[in-house]
Amino acid sequence: MNFELKSLDLAACAAEKCDALVVLVPEAFAAGKDALSQLIAQARKIGDLDSKPGKLLQMYRPAAAAAVRVVLVGTGDGSVRQVRQAVANAVAAIKSPAVHKLIISFAGAPAQKAVRAVVQAVADTTYVYTTTKSKPEGRALSQVWLCAPDAALAKAELALGTATVAGVELAKEWANRPANHATPTMLGTAAKSLARFPKLSCEVLGPKEVAKLGMGSFMSVAQGSKEPLRFIVLRYNGTAKTVAPTVLVGKGITFDTGGISIKPSAEMDEMKFDMCGAASVLGVLRALADLKPVINVVGLIPACENMPDGGAVKPGDVVTSMSGQTIENLNTDAEGRLVLCDALTYAERFKPRAVIDIATLTGACVIALGGVRSGMFSSDDTLAAALLAAGESALDPCWRLPLDDEYGEGLKSNFADMANVAGRAGGAITAAKFLQRFTAKMPWGHLDIAGTAWKSGAAKGATGRPVGLLLDYVLAQAAAPVLPAKTATKTVAKPKAPVKVAVPRKVSVK
Ligand code: BES
Ligand code: MN
Ligand code: ZN
Repeated sequence: MNFELKSLDLAACAAEKCDALVVLVPEAFAAGKDALSQLIAQARKIGDLDSKPGKLLQMYRPAAAAAVRVVLVGTGDGSVRQVRQAVANAVAAIKSPAVHKLIISFAGAPAQKAVRAVVQAVADTTYVYTTTKSKPEGRALSQVWLCAPDAALAKAELALGTATVAGVELAKEWANRPANHATPTMLGTAAKSLARFPKLSCEVLGPKEVAKLGMGSFMSVAQGSKEPLRFIVLRYNGTAKTVAPTVLVGKGITFDTGGISIKPSAEMDEMKFDMCGAASVLGVLRALADLKPVINVVGLIPACENMPDGGAVKPGDVVTSMSGQTIENLNTDAEGRLVLCDALTYAERFKPRAVIDIATLTGACVIALGGVRSGMFSSDDTLAAALLAAGESALDPCWRLPLDDEYGEGLKSNFADMANVAGRAGGAITAAKFLQRFTAKMPWGHLDIAGTAWKSGAAKGATGRPVGLLLDYVLAQAAAPVLPAKTATKTVAKPKAPVKVAVPRKVSVK
C-alpha cells in the first residue's frame, strides 16, 4: 500500500477519479463554491451530517465527484484521536475488493499533526491476515492520497506513519500466525531476515549457547517441549557504539499451555499470542530500519514453548537463573517471568540507558486495565513519564501501576531465593515485582500487554501494540541530548541527561 501527500483542495479532490473519496469534515468547515462543498454544507444544515466522528454519510457516484464512492465523515473536536476514529469508520464502510485507489481529503483543515494517525488507521482497517489461508485474498487497497493544504509540511509525519505501519504489520503477522507456523526456530529466522536492512544485525542462540550462559530459568520453561528454544539478539546501530542503547526485551512464548499447571481448554488457542511482546520488538526494529534515527537499540527475545510432557519442569522444582538467584517454580503457568528474568540479566552487558520488557504477562492485568491501556511499571520516574507520554502521543496508551515493596512479600519461598508466584491478589504487580529483582543495575520499565496485544471474539487478531508506543519512546531518545562518548558508558546506569519527551520531528527520513 502506497501513501502519498498531495496539496489539493476539496474541489480538486472531487475532480480526481478514484474508487473512493473520504472527506474529513471539520467543525469549522468553510464551504467553497464547488459542488461537493455545497453538498456538505447542505447536509450539515439539514442535520444529515454532524461532527460526531462515528457518523457517516455515504454516496455512490454522486454528481458532485468523480469518485465511485464518497463518504463524508465529521472529525468531532478535530483531535488526532477523533480524526483517527473518523478515518477508521469511513474506511471500514468502503472496504471492498473493488477499492484500490482511495483519496482522503482534509477538506481545508490542517493535516500535519494527524497524518501519522490517519495512515495507521487506514492500514489497521484494511489489514488482512492471509498466511495460512489456501486462497489468500489480501488487501485490495493499493494507493492512498492524503490531501490537505499543508500536505507538503507533513512529510516527516508520513514517513513516521508508514514506518510504524511496516513495524505494526510485521508484529501482527508473527503474532497472528498459529504456533505451528511460528515456532521459536521460525521466529529466529524471521529476526535473522531483518538483518538484510542496513544498520540491523542479528544473532540467534540455541540451547547449547543458552546453557553456557547459565540461563537455567529460561531453559526450565523450554524443557517440556520438542521445539528447541531460541534466544534472539537483534541490534539497531544508528550511532556510535559508545552511545548506550535502549534494550527492548520481548516475551516470546510461542505457545503457552500452562505446562504441568495446565490451562483450561476454553480459548487456549489464544495462547499462540503469548509471543506478542517478541513480535512488537521485531516490529520496532523493522520500523527503525526505515526511519534510521541516531540511536542504538537492542532487541532481546527469549523464545520457547511452554508444554507439559515427561520432561517438563514440575511444580516445586527449583532452578538457578543466570543472575545466580534461585527460583522455586510453584506454578508452571507463570512462565513468562521465568524466561524474561534471564533475558533481563543478559541485558546488563549492554549497559543500557534503559531496559524495557514487553510481555503478555498476566491475566490479572487484563482484569485491571482491560484492552484500552497496557500496564506500565518502572523503577525510574523519568522513564515512567517518558513511556506514559510516548503512549499518549502514539495513541497507544499505557497506565502506570505501583511497585511498593510490600507487593513483593508474597514471593517468599522456603526452598529458594524466591517463588515465581505470589497470591492471586495484585497479580500483575507481583509479576512485575518478580522481574524487578533482576533489574537492579539498570533503569527498567515493564509493559504488561496481556489486554492490549490482541483482540478476542469475532475480530480475533493481533493489534500490533505497543509498537507505536515503543517507537515514540525510542525516537524521543534521538531528540534527547546525546551523552559525550567518553562518559556515555560510565553514566549509563542513570543518564544525567534527562530523558526528554518530544514528538519525534527530528527523525532523519530518507
Ligand atoms: N500468558 C499468560 C498470561 C495471559 C493469560 C495473558 C490470559 C492473556 C490472557 C501467562 O503466562 C500466565 O499464564 N499467567 C498466569 C500467572 C499466574 C499463574 C500467577 C495468569 O495470569 O493466570
Ligand atoms: Mn502462562
Ligand atoms: Zn504466558
